[in-house]
Parts: sequence; structure tokens; C-alpha cells
Amino acid sequence: MKIVFATNNAHKLAEVSAVLGSEYELVTLREVGITEDIPETGATLDENASIKARYVWERTGLDCFADDTGLEVEALNGAPGVRSARYATDGHDFAANNRKLLSELEGKENRRARFRTVISLVRGGEECQVEGVVNGTIAHEESGCEGFGYDPLFIPEGSDCTFAEMTAEQKNAISHRGRAVAELVKILK
Ligand code: IMP
Repeated sequence: MKIVFATNNAHKLAEVSAVLGSEYELVTLREVGITEDIPETGATLDENASIKARYVWERTGLDCFADDTGLEVEALNGAPGVRSARYATDGHDFAANNRKLLSELEGKENRRARFRTVISLVRGGEECQVEGVVNGTIAHEESGCEGFGYDPLFIPEGSDCTFAEMTAEQKNAISHRGRAVAELVKILK
């Protein structure tokens, strides 16, 4: 079954298709001719996921889903949250975001954080949402080179290494996106 995943992020594509399995063929934004950045103007992850999925549906009429993820840090009142991609700069500068996060947390004892992913699925024009969460803590320095984004700083609960020190399979099994996609699969099936 073909379904559009509203992303061009190769890491996300690989993570999600591994969880969805071979029954589903994921089609990217580029493959359906959407080359512009979809405006993420929502104030919440839920709104942004919905905006992206509806944008694709309205232009292609194809079943699709979109995700929006945020890192929510307790001592920073939930920041960077919906602004996770553009925390330090206007672009997706992962290194600058990680530097800013470390500096904002300097001297703070509470380093608890969570990743939250919201997925909006639009099928036949009908929309529904699922969510996945993983709790953890922010490390004092970056470790590992797998994954992307805040992975080198995020230590999931029950583990002593960061997401960036895990294989894709290990991360998928416990990650926010892995959990949200597992919920998505329940609906699709
Ligand atoms: P997006 O809205 O899903 O693209 O995610 C927003 C930002 O959150 C990304 O630019 C990354 O900085 C961060 N992010 C999303 N998912 C992950 C992840 O699995 N690991 C680390 N950082 C992530």
C-alpha cells in the first residue's frame, strides 16, 4: 500500500519505513512534486502535524501522514518544544541547537526531558492523530554519531547511552517516533 509521508528527511524516512514494514511503500514529498517547505505556522506539535498532512492531501488527494516532533525540557518550561528545529537559528542547524541547549541548562540540576511526536493521518480526507513519547534526560556533553538532531544529548530512561550511540533498531524500539508509528500501524491495519 502506497502512502505519502510528508517529509524529505532521509533519517526519518528510514526510521519510519523500518517500523511500518514492507507492506507499506512510503512516498516522499519530492516524489509527489512538493518541493517547497510546508509552512509550519502552528503553535503546537498537533497543529503543525495537521497543517502538513492537510497541505499534502489538498494538493495531491493522496492518503498521507505527517509528523511533528519536539524536545520538551522540564527546566526550560517545555522549550524548545514546537521550536525544536529552529531553536538556535532560523535553519535546521543541529550543532547550534545542541550548543544552545547545553548552555541553557548550565548549572541546572533538573535535566529531565521528553521527546514527543504527533502524527496526523489523512485518509480519504478524514484526519486522525496519534502520539508517541519517550522520557529521558539531557547529557552534559554530546556522545555518539548516529541519528540526527538532539540525539547526541538525549539519554532515554532506562539506558546509559544517548540515542546517537544506539543502532537505528535500538532507537526505533523505544523512541517517540517509533511509538507514534506503532500507533499509526494499528490504525492503518
Ligand atoms: P520535526 O518537526 O519532526 O522535523 O522535528 C523538529 C526538530 O526536532 C528536528 O529538527 C530535530 O532537531 C528534532 N528532532 C526530531 N526528531 C528527532 C529525533 O528523533 N532525534 C533527535 N532530534 C529530533
